[in-house]
Amino acid sequence: MDLGLADAAVVVSGGTKGMGRAAAACFAAEGARVAVLARTPDVLDETVAELRHLGAADAVALRADLTDRAAVEAAFAEVGERWGELHVLVNAAGPVDVGIARFDDLDDEEWLATFDIGAMSAVRCVRAALPLLRAAAWARIVNVSAHSTKRQSAEIVAYTAAKAAMTSLSKNLSLSLAPEGILVNTVSPGSFLSEGMRGYLRALPPERHADPDSLTDAMRIMVEDFGHPAQLPRAGDPSEIGPVIAFVGSRINTYMTGANINVDGGSDFC
Ligand SMILES: NC(=O)c1ccc[n+]([C@@H]2O[C@H](COP(=O)([O-])OP(=O)(O)OC[C@H]3O[C@@H](n4cnc5c(N)ncnc54)[C@H](OP(=O)(O)O)[C@@H]3O)[C@@H](O)[C@H]2O)c1
Repeated sequence: MDLGLADAAVVVSGGTKGMGRAAAACFAAEGARVAVLARTPDVLDETVAELRHLGAADAVALRADLTDRAAVEAAFAEVGERWGELHVLVNAAGPVDVGIARFDDLDDEEWLATFDIGAMSAVRCVRAALPLLRAAAWARIVNVSAHSTKRQSAEIVAYTAAKAAMTSLSKNLSLSLAPEGILVNTVSPGSFLSEGMRGYLRALPPERHADPDSLTDAMRIMVEDFGHPAQLPRAGDPSEIGPVIAFVGSRINTYMTGANINVDGGSDFC
C-alpha cells in the first residue's frame, strides 16, 4: 500500500528513541523528508544516519528542549527555512520519567514539570508548526498520548493527567482545524518496551527480576506497579506502533480526525 508519503515533510518530536523513532523510521522508509526533534546530540546524529539509510529523501536533526519555547520556535524556524512547508507533525516526546507517583507524593513543581513536557510540549510544537502545516497541500497532526488516561492508576496521577490534557487538546484541535483540512488524531499506547521503559526497568532492585530487554517482564512489572494488564501477555515493541502512527499521519488517511486509537495489546478488555 502506498501511503502517499514520498517527499512529504515530517517532524517527529521524540523521534530519536522508542515509539517516536519507530514512527520516524516508517516515514523514512516511505521516502518522506524526516526531521527528528530531541535533546541529545549524538543520538540525534545516529538517528539521522539511520533515517537516511532507510530511505528518507532528506533527514534532519533538530536539537531542542521541548520545555523551552524559544528553542522549539527556533527548531521550527529551521524547518521553515529548509522545507517551507510541513505535512506531518508527530508529537511523541516524553514524559516517561516524571509525574509517576501518588497524589500525596507530588508537589507543585513536579505537577508543573509533568504538564510542561506532557502537554505544553505539544502546545508549543503545534503553535510553531501551524504556519508550515497551513502552507502544505495536505497536513496531519498525530499526538502520542497514553492508554493510562482510560485506565487510571493511583500510582501514576500527574503523568496521566498531563496525557489526558494532551488527548483533550488533540480532540479540540481536530475540531478547530477540520475546516482547513488539517486532520488531528491521538494514538494511545499501552505498555511499550521503549528506551524510557528500559530505564524504568533498569532502576528496579535485582529482586524484581526485570530484564530490560524482555517484553514479558515489562508487562509483568506494569501490572505489579500500575495495574495495567493487557490481553496479549507482553508489552509492545515500538516497531509495532510505528506503522500505526505513519498511517494516521499519512496522505491516505483522508477521513479520520478527532479519533483516539488504542495500540495496547487489548487493555480495554482486561
Ligand atoms: N513506553 C510506554 O510504555 C508508554 C506508554 C504510554 C504512553 N507513552 C508515551 O509515548 C511517548 C513515547 O514514549 P517512549 O516510551 O517511546 O519514549 P522514550 O523511549 O523515552 O523516548 C522519549 C523521546 O523523547 C525525547 N524527549 C524527552 N524529553 C524531551 C524534551 N524535554 N525535549 C525534547 N525531547 C525530549 C527523547 O530524546 P532526548 O532524551 O534525547 O531528549 C526521546 O527521543 C511519550 O509521550 C510517552 O509519554 C509511553
